[in-house]
Amino acid sequence: MGAQPLLRAQGVSLEYRTRAQTVRATHDVSFDVYQGDRFVLLGPSGCGKSSLLKAAGGFLAPSAGSISLHGKAVNGPGPDRVAVFQEFDQLPPWKTVKQNVMFPLLASRRLKRHEAEERAMHWIAKVGLEAFADAFPHTLSGGMKQRVAIARALAMQPEVLLMDEPFAALDALTRRKMQEELGLLWEEAKFTLLFVTHSIEEALVVGNRILLLSPHPGRVRAELNSHQFGMHSTGSPEFQAAANRIHRLLFDEEAAASGPVAVPNTAPVPVEAPVAEPAFTRRAAGAGLPLAGYVAIDALPPAAYAAIDETGRRYAV
Ligand SMILES: Nc1ncnc2c1ncn2[C@@H]1O[C@H](COP(=O)(O)OP(=O)(O)O)[C@@H](O)[C@H]1O
Ligand SMILES: [Mg+2]
Repeated sequence: MGAQPLLRAQGVSLEYRTRAQTVRATHDVSFDVYQGDRFVLLGPSGCGKSSLLKAAGGFLAPSAGSISLHGKAVNGPGPDRVAVFQEFDQLPPWKTVKQNVMFPLLASRRLKRHEAEERAMHWIAKVGLEAFADAFPHTLSGGMKQRVAIARALAMQPEVLLMDEPFAALDALTRRKMQEELGLLWEEAKFTLLFVTHSIEEALVVGNRILLLSPHPGRVRAELNSHQFGMHSTGSPEFQAAANRIHRLLFDEEAAASGPVAVPNTAPVPVEAPVAEPAFTRRAAGAGLPLAGYVAIDALPPAAYAAIDETGRRYAV
């Protein structure tokens, strides 16, 4: 049997009700995040990515469907899900870097003060800010502030790290650097990440799996594997081809209008099964669902399966 998903969204519709109207942010979105995944929600602005992250964080209850963590329904925020946002002002300005990182550890009563300090310094060093432990946020650059937010989040050792466009407000060079650093942190700590972006390139670099969402209201358009791409591959023809394909899947009106591709759901391929060659397959989510095509997944070469198997994750292809 495959590993159980850590975080599971099933048929999640999200709505905002105001007195005047109801805005539907997402419609019937399902996805599974496994331990150690770097799972990316990718879609155009306004398609409900942040709303999905808020729902995973327990800040927004689905109007239909459910979100569960370890099989238990998420019905409120908790220290097992910590978020990093785009905004640079997510750090209380009256606390130093170290105090910022220590704060949730103390507030959640997870650690005693000296343990919290030790844990905080460990993560501050990991993000390269040892020399700034006693600095206040206003003396730091945007990239440094985001590093503090990341250190603060990882120090909590959450079950899932939630990131909402954390690098979107940074200059291009810093953004690339931060993507790289996040990858290195993941190599070390193998945390589970749910990452939101509207950048195709960022999705490919950061994620090992990508969920493509249609424009407002967000519906699942496809899901694909991207573990083969990283910082090193951004210039490669394969990377460009993947980016182009995602672009088509996201924005090709014709593909969107033509509805689901009529391929029946198939049973997941066991991890051990040999795969002749990488192939691009599409499956419909099920007859009658008003989705614009669901699950375009790159079949992985056998070597990749082995790598994934080592970390205990399995894929349905
Ligand atoms: N607090 C809110 N009240 C009303 N509508 C909202 C609220 N937050 C988001 N929305 C609407 O929900 C939709 C999805 O928003 P959001 O999740 O922020 O999208 P994304 O993060 O993909 O840009 C948008 O149409 C947006 O206007
Ligand atoms: Mg957003």
